[in-house]
Amino acid sequence: MVQTLQKAVSEAALILSEAGIDGARRDASLLLANILDADTSIFHLEPERVLNDTHHVMFQLAIERRASREPISHILGHREFWSLNFLVGPQVLDPRPDSETLIETALSAQKSGQEITSILDLGTGSGCLLLSLLSEVETARGLGVDQSLAAIEIAEQNAKRLSLDDRATFLQGNWCDSIEDKFDLVISNPPYIPIDDIESLQPEVKNFEPLAALVGGADGLDCYREIISRVKPIMKPNGMIIFEVGAGQAQEVSELLEKADFSVISCHKDLASIERCISAYF
Ligand SMILES: C[S@@+](CC[C@H](N)C(=O)[O-])C[C@H]1O[C@@H](n2cnc3c(N)ncnc32)[C@H](O)[C@@H]1O
Repeated sequence: MVQTLQKAVSEAALILSEAGIDGARRDASLLLANILDADTSIFHLEPERVLNDTHHVMFQLAIERRASREPISHILGHREFWSLNFLVGPQVLDPRPDSETLIETALSAQKSGQEITSILDLGTGSGCLLLSLLSEVETARGLGVDQSLAAIEIAEQNAKRLSLDDRATFLQGNWCDSIEDKFDLVISNPPYIPIDDIESLQPEVKNFEPLAALVGGADGLDCYREIISRVKPIMKPNGMIIFEVGAGQAQEVSELLEKADFSVISCHKDLASIERCISAYF
């Protein structure tokens, strides 16, 4: 069947919209542009170009996957974070724009005098947080830890793709276990969703993202408790810790840090004015 780019996108957008996807046209355009190895300006520049049979079949398959609510990043195989391109997939949490708040918090602390020569990223997933920071702080080295070997493998590939593998190391392990070095910055975006809330998440999240990257116990705070109780021995004096927190968790995580005698506990909002990160000093 002869189909122009413009018509292919319009028909696909309708299918995605009927599947309940917000931004259906944007997703259809991104998927087709990716198949054509072009950017989305192609739809304005060549709307009447005819889609060949191979591309037509590839596009149909991609739209079927997206209509089943598979995240677009899994179908594309990559996701942009902090203007860098990260490999992602079902093995790792899809990097969220909100998490850029953690990068901004660390860089602003550095501007105010915080030393950042060694960074520890607990629960590194795709490595997006550690690698974004290393891309900004060229004198720093970092270690990313994750309990998932599949995640570690993705993070290592990302480090290579971004030419940061000479300064980034990854280790499979349980939080702070088997870490002997001391770090002047510890960052973590741990799983923080209360177990009973998982069922109400979007299908893209609950059906396609690793559960171990999402669930933070009955109240969502289990991983914060565990990390806070064990992290001090691997922090340098005057070292800083920055946690990402879920909406509504800032107060409770601040209290956990206070009880553990961390100081200068501050809260940082994301672009939607939600309290997204908590920073504190050893
Ligand atoms: C919310 S994801 C964050 C991933 C990535 N840092 C990001 O911000 O996109 C949490 C990560 O913590 C890891 N994780 C969960 N429990 C862990 C544990 N006990 N020790 C180490 N990593 C753990 C998960 O495998 C997952 O990759």
